[in-house]
Amino acid sequence: MDNISSIDKIDRITRIISHPLYQEQYKLLQDAEENRSFCNHTMGHFLDVARIMYIYNLEENAQLSKELIYAAALLHDIGRYEQIVYKTPHHIAGARIAGIILRDCDFSKEDMLRVQNAIAGHREAMEKQDRLSEYLYRADKLSRNCFLCKASSECNWSEEKKNSYISY
Ligand SMILES: [Fe+2]
Ligand SMILES: [Fe+2]
Repeated sequence: MDNISSIDKIDRITRIISHPLYQEQYKLLQDAEENRSFCNHTMGHFLDVARIMYIYNLEENAQLSKELIYAAALLHDIGRYEQIVYKTPHHIAGARIAGIILRDCDFSKEDMLRVQNAIAGHREAMEKQDRLSEYLYRADKLSRNCFLCKASSECNWSEEKKNSYISY
């Protein structure tokens, strides 16, 4: 992400991942998970989630803003480092960190709250009021290739939650 500062016209999604707090937390997280045997929380995961959410959006004609989808997906696990180090559940830490970054990137209060709500609810299967929250939950789960995972037997996901085959 080093060459981002050279982009002339910076959109709000680029501003999110260029934000000093995002960059700091992302780097700390990558370093902390370097030797993790379970799924990592990388830019690859965040973009997989964003793109699956956008597919749901198209398939179900939900008309969600692409920008909000990407904002939610890019930020949803940004609290993972706090969970590793301070034991703060990452959906709570992530919602708080997202609020700071979204405000600094000029998102409206309403959009900020929607993204924060989606992040705060992304670990629970409970019914979602907002499609943004529902899609984040579903895409986050679908993005994981459990059928290929060597650590699957030690993973704390239930068997029902795991993607033991390619779902399409
Ligand atoms: Fe998560
Ligand atoms: Fe995730």
